[in-house]
Amino acid sequence: MPTYDYIIIGSGIAGLYTALLAQEHGRVLLLTKGSIDECNTKYAQGGIAAAIGHDDSPGLHYEDTIAAGAGLCDPAAVRILTEEAPDRITDLIRFGVPFDTIHGEVALTREAAHSVPRILHAGGDATGEHIELTLSSLARLRNITILEYSLATRILLGPEGALGIEAMDTRTHGLHQFEGRYTILATGGAGRLFRLTTNPDVATGDGVALAYRADAATEDMEFFQFHPTALSLPGVPVFLISEAVRGEGGLLRDVHGTRFMPDYHPLAELAPRDIVARSIVSRMQATEADHVLLDVTHLPGQVVSARFPRIYSFCREHGIDITQEPIPVAPAAHYMMGGVKTNVWGETTVPGLYACGECACTGVHGANRLASNSLMEVLVFGKRIIQRTQERAGAPAAPALGPGDLRHTLRSDFPQEAGTEQPTLARLQDLLWNNVGIIRSRDTLEVAAATLYRYQQLLTQAADRPTWELRNLVQVARLMTEAALIREESRGAHFRTDFPEPSPRWLRHILF
Ligand code: FAD
Ligand code: SIN
Repeated sequence: MPTYDYIIIGSGIAGLYTALLAQEHGRVLLLTKGSIDECNTKYAQGGIAAAIGHDDSPGLHYEDTIAAGAGLCDPAAVRILTEEAPDRITDLIRFGVPFDTIHGEVALTREAAHSVPRILHAGGDATGEHIELTLSSLARLRNITILEYSLATRILLGPEGALGIEAMDTRTHGLHQFEGRYTILATGGAGRLFRLTTNPDVATGDGVALAYRADAATEDMEFFQFHPTALSLPGVPVFLISEAVRGEGGLLRDVHGTRFMPDYHPLAELAPRDIVARSIVSRMQATEADHVLLDVTHLPGQVVSARFPRIYSFCREHGIDITQEPIPVAPAAHYMMGGVKTNVWGETTVPGLYACGECACTGVHGANRLASNSLMEVLVFGKRIIQRTQERAGAPAAPALGPGDLRHTLRSDFPQEAGTEQPTLARLQDLLWNNVGIIRSRDTLEVAAATLYRYQQLLTQAADRPTWELRNLVQVARLMTEAALIREESRGAHFRTDFPEPSPRWLRHILF
């Protein structure tokens, strides 16, 4: 079996950044299930948050992150995130990421629930593409073994913890095993659970499913963020319209042209993301429309097209000149706050297994992620993973479970029911969108939980990429739905009509 020091699964910012750091310390295998640049990272628009502005401080960034997280952030993890962020920006600049500047200084923009402008961006709204291409080009030049079209199917376990992985060549369907001292999950999010999502095809929750099957704890799975403003045009793929558009002055109006966000929150268009998404849903219902409008026509046209070149040209290609007419938008599934539970060194509850990026739950996001904190979370905690493997080689400590945290196993008490349709990706996405989406209730969640249980019974042996991904999505959907049933309150991105208020009883985490 080929042997490495580090096996890294995934080639978004989390996989590439940890690989670039790890190759200074040992043999690195990076594998990824598609081509190297297929990932969520490439689509990031708004930017990356760090308190580097003159009127900013890590303390302010900390306060904003804690406030957005609605009581469930881990304060120690947020402190680390916000204090270490400026140094990680220096790392990215050293790697060659071309952040935009204005008058010789790094340009900063504002996004929702940030009290000051603190978002760095590159190429206007092409931040993710610049980061991804810079890091992947570097990785190809360094001493890293890169295996594309290689899908991790199983974490190999021994009495001491993770020993490596099994992976499938997605072209030949052959299975191969790789041994490693440290296995790092960097597999990204799970937006493909939902019919409407900003995420690309690769976001199928594989890392969470792999970790769960390896008996690692998952946490906060009920919290999934819906981005308020994705382009909503019939027949056109979902395309994000960055929050930075509102940060630069964009206004939300209903289909009759009436601005509505001031009626819902004092921060109006820049209220926390969950509030904006629910307010839009409520306004769409009130106006019997499937979208609202995002209006930048009052801003200078040249500024808009220069600051948001990707958004401007995508909308233009689909018949909308955003400098002249408002953009039809609606919410779409965007970011998985929960994931594989880690401590502040990226260690999971399985020794030798680490998780980094969107598949991990470090505790920094709580019930609702502050915009542009996810790219930074990767850098801060990715760096700490590699530091940890150097400082404590061979003796990792599992993350502590909090005293109030609730540990659960998935249910099997569902009545037998003949006639459940065979699971398909489209059926799963409809089920989740309709029953486990922006607005939930016991009734909708129970239907989803029972259907997902039966789906899992009906799934046949996975043998290629689509069947593995469906299997993983169903697993992640079960964790999300059952956590959402257990949490009898509304908090952050989790909103239940039968328990519409937050409850102090629920200032705790749900783990599987
Ligand atoms: P990804 O970049 O998704 O990479 C995951 C990798 O794992 C992929 O290469 C995938 O192919 C691979 N993989 C998955 N499963 C397997 C498997 N079984 N075997 C092998 N390989 C596998 N965040 C911000 O902070 N700022 C923003 O402005 C911002 N904008 C966003 C805009 C959009 C449209 C989207 C979708 C997200 C945005 N986010 C933003 C969120 C942010 O981009 C992601 O959270 C972040 O890029 C995740 O990085 P990652 O490396 O963890 O995952
Ligand atoms: C956006 O540009 O609106 C996305 C930012 C994020 O998800 O952090």
